[in-house]
Amino acid sequence: MIKISHLKKAYPNVTPLKDVNVEIHKGAVISIIGPSGTGKSTLIRCINMLETPTAGEIWVDGECITDKKCNINKIRQKMGMVFQSFNLFHHMTIIENIMAAPMDLLGKSKQEAYEKGMELLRTVGLADKALNYPDELSGGQKQRVAIARALAMEPEIILLDEPTSALDPTMVGEVQAVIKDLAKKGLTLMIVTHEMRFAREIANRVFYMDEGGVYEDGTPEQIFDNPQKEKTIRFIKHLKVFETIITSKDFDFIGFNTALEEFGRKNQVAQRAILRSQAVFEELGVQIILPQLADEFKLSVALEYSQDEEALTMVLKYDGAPFDIKTSDNVLSLKLAQNASQSIEYAQCEGEGFTNLVTVKIK
Ligand SMILES: Nc1ncnc2c1ncn2[C@@H]1O[C@H](COP(=O)(O)OP(=O)(O)OP(=O)(O)O)[C@@H](O)[C@H]1O
Ligand SMILES: [Mg+2]
Repeated sequence: MIKISHLKKAYPNVTPLKDVNVEIHKGAVISIIGPSGTGKSTLIRCINMLETPTAGEIWVDGECITDKKCNINKIRQKMGMVFQSFNLFHHMTIIENIMAAPMDLLGKSKQEAYEKGMELLRTVGLADKALNYPDELSGGQKQRVAIARALAMEPEIILLDEPTSALDPTMVGEVQAVIKDLAKKGLTLMIVTHEMRFAREIANRVFYMDEGGVYEDGTPEQIFDNPQKEKTIRFIKHLKVFETIITSKDFDFIGFNTALEEFGRKNQVAQRAILRSQAVFEELGVQIILPQLADEFKLSVALEYSQDEEALTMVLKYDGAPFDIKTSDNVLSLKLAQNASQSIEYAQCEGEGFTNLVTVKIK
C-alpha cells in the first residue's frame, strides 16, 4: 500500500532522514518510536507530502506521490492526519468542524455530511458535544473530535503524530481507546508515540527510528522483548551510556577516568562498579588492546548502565585484524580484568568500521 524507497529529507542544518526504505501493507498498524529528533515527525509529514522529500520515492497504492505530476490533493484524501495539537477550527461547532472537508472536498451534501459526522461523533463518544465549540471541550475530547474529523474523509490511512502527548494524563486513556478501535477496524495506521506500553499494545509492527532512518523494524515482541541492534537495546532498556572514541595511543587517560567517575556520579552507579570498570579498561584497553593496534586506529569505549537492573556493561570495539583478547600473552592483565568482571566475551563484528567487539559485564 505504501512503499518508501531511498527517502531522504535534508534541512539546512540537519538531515533527519538519510535513507528510508520500507513497505507498509494494507491494514498494518505501525508504532513509530525513537529518541527525540530522529525524524519520526519528518517521516510521517513526508508520507502525506506536508514536507517535500529531498530525494527518494514514496508510492501510495501504485502511484508515485513524490512525482511532480502527481495530484497530491487526491492522494491526501486517502490519508487522515492527526497532530499533537488538535488544529480544530475555533469559530465552528464540533459538527461543523467534521462536516467541512467532506462537503468541500468530497462534494457531499450537507445532510450526508451531517449524518456521517454524527455517526463518527457517536463512535468517539461525543455525540452530545456536536453543537459545542472546541474551546468548550477538554483536551482529550478535542483530540477525539480531531480523529472523527480525519475519519470523515473516509481515509484508508491515518497518520498520527503523538496524538496524546499534549493531553492531561487523565485523558490519555480515552484517546488511546479510540485509536485502538480504529486499529481493529482494519485501517492502516502509523502512530508516532513516546508511550511505549501503548506503542506495544496497539501495533503489529514497530519502527525504531535512529541514525537517519528506520534503524530496526519488527513485531512488538521483537522490538520490545528482544531488540537486536545496539541503539534499539539502549533505548528500550533505558540504558545510560558513556561513550568515547580513542584514536591516539597517548590519549588523556586521567581525563578518561575522571569522565567515567562523573558519569557514575550522575547516574548513581555504585562507586566500586566504576572502579572496576576503570580497572577493566586499564587491563583490556590499555594493556592488551592498544599495543595490538596499528598507528592509525579507532577504539570505541562505551559504558552502559541499566538503572532497572543495576548492571554495568563495558563494550570495547576496535578496528584492524581480528584479535581475540583471550589469546593475549598478557596473562596477568587478562586475569586482573577477569577478577573485576562477571563475564568477558569476544566476537568479530561488522559495520561502523570496527572489526572486533569485546563485551564485559562488570561485577
Ligand atoms: N522545518 C524544519 N526546518 C529545519 N529543521 C527541521 C525542521 N523540521 C524538523 N527539523 C529538524 O529535523 C530533525 C528531526 O525532527 P523531527 O521533528 O522529525 O524529530 P522527531 O523524531 O519527531 O522528534 P520528537 O520526538 O522530539 O518529536 C530535528 O533535528 C529537527 O530540529
Ligand atoms: Mg516529532
